[in-house]
Amino acid sequence: MPAPLDLAPVTVTPSTGDLWRDAFRRQIERLYASPTLYRWSLANPLTRWVTRRRTERLFDLMAGFVHSQVLLGCVRLDLFRLLHQAPADLDTIARRVALPAPPLQRLLLSAVSLGLLEHRSQGRFGLGALGVPLATHPGIAQMIEHNQLLYEDMRDPLAFLQNAWQGRMAAYWPYAHDPQAAEHHAQDTFRRYTELMAASQGFVVQEILSSYPFAEHRCVLDVGAGKGRFASALARQVPHLRLQLFDLSPVLALAREAVGPELHDRLQFHPGSFLHDPLPAGADLITLVRVAHDHPDEVLRALLRKVHDALPLGGALLLAEPMAQPDGEPGAPSDAYFHFYLLAMGAGRLRTPDELRQLMEQAGFSHVELVPNAMPIHTRILIGRKSRCLPL
Ligand SMILES: C[S@@+](CC[C@H](N)C(=O)[O-])C[C@H]1O[C@@H](n2cnc3c(N)ncnc32)[C@H](O)[C@@H]1O
Repeated sequence: MPAPLDLAPVTVTPSTGDLWRDAFRRQIERLYASPTLYRWSLANPLTRWVTRRRTERLFDLMAGFVHSQVLLGCVRLDLFRLLHQAPADLDTIARRVALPAPPLQRLLLSAVSLGLLEHRSQGRFGLGALGVPLATHPGIAQMIEHNQLLYEDMRDPLAFLQNAWQGRMAAYWPYAHDPQAAEHHAQDTFRRYTELMAASQGFVVQEILSSYPFAEHRCVLDVGAGKGRFASALARQVPHLRLQLFDLSPVLALAREAVGPELHDRLQFHPGSFLHDPLPAGADLITLVRVAHDHPDEVLRALLRKVHDALPLGGALLLAEPMAQPDGEPGAPSDAYFHFYLLAMGAGRLRTPDELRQLMEQAGFSHVELVPNAMPIHTRILIGRKSRCLPL
């Protein structure tokens, strides 16, 4: 059995504002529970849309598993690539995917209702707004296929909550619960997750590169570098930068194969585990991209201290990953996905920007701030500076 999971910190001393908010929410809850008010709000054209919207959202939650399986069905039939710039009618699609027309029509109509496909002239189906990225970014289809592991693990949600670390997702990510993973597992285990990460990293890389001025640095160390997709893109964008890649040795073997030969003299590979090995010196910026959330607080604290030690004064840490909505802000449904994904994976968790800021400050970083970026669902970005050395 793995070590006990961390708890997210909870604020226990309410402010006067919190007490007012509680009273307001109690009132709202009472109104939501009232059948009279429900009937009144539907009869009134000014309030009807609010009640409708709430009912539709609840229905969507109930039906969400069907939505994901419609999506998976379309991915497995390769419908998005098939219909990209080439709308087709039901019979043509049925012949191409070798399915009988009647059930296939249900799938296509469901995909239309979800915005994945849309009706075109002469009874044809084309891509809807949500289908286009699926045709043009293969990494999304790979993540959808991969999510089947989580879907199977969560089939019985209460059994999952008792034994989350025993599912197929946990086996997929060996380092998340085995500190000696690099010694205990076959190369194929590392290849599987490293390729998935590289395929799904495109949007994250784009967000980071367009949000932070890397040109002010000389040398960047990417810790948990995976196949080197971020480091390679950064090297191409900022030609004067030197890059160091640190990851478990089976993963860096894959990075060496993947990195373009034109970058080889600017990239250095440092195999090791940040649990047991020191980080290489020399970088004035260290990046942790989708690394912190895989690990419990104790491991993350030690890693952040190592990062701080490895930097010169004036150096910086850039931490990028999906982060939880801060308390008190309206919930983002993507948080539910990441909470369960990380639970199934091992011992890490989704943290708010504030929790990560505090962990960075405890490790010695100052001036820790969120760097605004356009698409927070892919990643949020924190930057912190090393402005003093910690006492030994
Ligand atoms: C979720 S992946 C993210 C990879 C890449 N940064 C990205 O965003 O696609 C986490 C990475 O951290 C690496 N990692 C996990 N534990 C590690 C450890 N103890 N030492 C070094 N790297 C580790 C994994 O091998 C993996 O490549």
